[in-house]
Amino acid sequence: MNLLRFDSEAAWASGVATFWRDRLRSNPRLKMCLPSGLTPNPIYAEMVRSVAAGEATFAQASVFVLDEFGDVALDDPGRAKHAVMHHLAGAVDLPAAAFHFLDPDAPDIDAHCRRYDLDIGDGFDLILLGIGLNGHLGMNEPGSPARSRTRRVDLHETTIASAARYFSHRNVPRWGVTVGLQPILASKEVWLLATGSGKAAITERVVRGEIDERVPASLLRRHANCSLFVEAEAGALFK
Ligand code: PGA
Repeated sequence: MNLLRFDSEAAWASGVATFWRDRLRSNPRLKMCLPSGLTPNPIYAEMVRSVAAGEATFAQASVFVLDEFGDVALDDPGRAKHAVMHHLAGAVDLPAAAFHFLDPDAPDIDAHCRRYDLDIGDGFDLILLGIGLNGHLGMNEPGSPARSRTRRVDLHETTIASAARYFSHRNVPRWGVTVGLQPILASKEVWLLATGSGKAAITERVVRGEIDERVPASLLRRHANCSLFVEAEAGALFK
């Protein structure tokens, strides 16, 4: 795992965006998997600015949303699909047909997940991931098998408590649908993102602790092309 450390969140967002512009330039058809959550938003803002300035384009690229909450109203802005659309996909030149998302309301969720795996096809060129407070990746909670595919999952209590930040009401979802660890670990390139002192302990555990399924993010240490991007606070507990 490569470690890239930045002094401030602004430098971190701008640093990740520089790499992202480069990846889009060398492969305009970049197939990406992207998370919602609060962590990536400053990076998304940098990419929106880059596209507006003519420094990057998503015109030939494709985006798959990493996960989605269940039992949430279709128009709830806390839905992962709406968050990624609002902060990035709808604000850049990505064609609507190149934006893929999970539908927890699908009548047959298993069939819907198999379809998503088929659409993912030969895997992602690039995946961006936040780190859950319990080390989860997407909604792959501790104990998720490394070979898991896209599926319905129950959320852990820490994830439910943390997800409350995304919703303006108290009806916080307790389950969701997520891209599995298999396609995550099979991505050609993985960028793990962490900011803020609240992520310092889990980030240290991911970097220094044992590699095991109880901390899904630790499995990325075996990935051949994974970079961890931290700013000073998230990276405060390790060198
Ligand atoms: P956050 O969520 O970016 O809102 O901190 C990350 C996660 O729980 O995966």
